[in-house]
Amino acid sequence: MALVDQNKRSIDYLRVSITDRCNLSCLYCKPRSGMSTLPHCEILQYEEILRIISVAVPLGIAHVRITGGEPLIRRGVLGFIRSLGTVPGIEDISLTTNGVLLESKARDLREAGIRRLNVSLDSLKPERFAQITGKDNWREVWRGIERAQQAGFEPLKINMVPVKGVNDDEILSFARLTLERALHVRFIEFMPIGADDRWRRDTCVSAAQVQEVIEREFGPLIPFSTKRSAGPSANHQIPGARGVIGFISPISKHFCAACRRLRLTADGKIRPCLLSDTEIDMKAPLRAGCSDAEIERLLRLALQIKPERHHLTDADSGPGACFERTMSRIGG
Ligand code: 5AD
Repeated sequence: MALVDQNKRSIDYLRVSITDRCNLSCLYCKPRSGMSTLPHCEILQYEEILRIISVAVPLGIAHVRITGGEPLIRRGVLGFIRSLGTVPGIEDISLTTNGVLLESKARDLREAGIRRLNVSLDSLKPERFAQITGKDNWREVWRGIERAQQAGFEPLKINMVPVKGVNDDEILSFARLTLERALHVRFIEFMPIGADDRWRRDTCVSAAQVQEVIEREFGPLIPFSTKRSAGPSANHQIPGARGVIGFISPISKHFCAACRRLRLTADGKIRPCLLSDTEIDMKAPLRAGCSDAEIERLLRLALQIKPERHHLTDADSGPGACFERTMSRIGG
């Protein structure tokens, strides 16, 4: 049985944020007013998350991705992942991390059942990394990536958000990483999420612009597809390269018609669309002792209100179109 929304999209993928806290404070994620974090009691306990997931999986959610904030800073994350693996019917557990704590955890994550790992990295220059993230942790992240590759995560995906005047001069360096390594480097268009006035349309580098820069250097890219390429990334390869280059273009070419996801925020809200603030609270019903049938009803309600598409690119949604939550509070 599949979960199908009002627009006939099959929903089989849940992104679960397990914390709103992060050990970095990236320019594009941090509001100028500073980051406030939720008190612990507002955050779902692992048992509560597992309860929601164990209702969602039989309905058709086969794939769960763990995100944050930074998921590896939450205590007990490995045990949580192991428990997730025992939910009957779950097919795939993946994780997105900033990599700061990856070096010591890569092997354990794999043993706990993570097969697919995404690491966010916006610069290959330690000093610039520090400027973007506010922390001098580039070397830790890089060692984490190497350790993860050794631990057998393949493909390991690196997410890079090019921002004009910040790191767009590193597009080729990131592309070059795929020549020798079996990495997927994915360029994500900069979206106006929670970064106050830092987002402007002209700071967003489009997928087409990134591709042009890469093709000017390496010649035409070759389309690359796998049986699992259901995600939003349009994948290519530099001829002869080991790795893959992906373009994720929420701004220039939205992929809402192919969206298969729901999100669960760390404070227990189902968010049917990354780019809409409409949410359904699960925490209060859970804590009031609701039944599994009620959880199922709320999940189905989320499908009914899942928007057909986002409206970021509409003429009237200018730079002011920021959302109430930063990415760290939605779960990127
Ligand atoms: N625009 C595009 N991507 C973003 N990410 C975080 N904030 C933004 C934004 N405003 C990316 C992170 C991470 C992924 C989960 O989302 O770099 O790789």
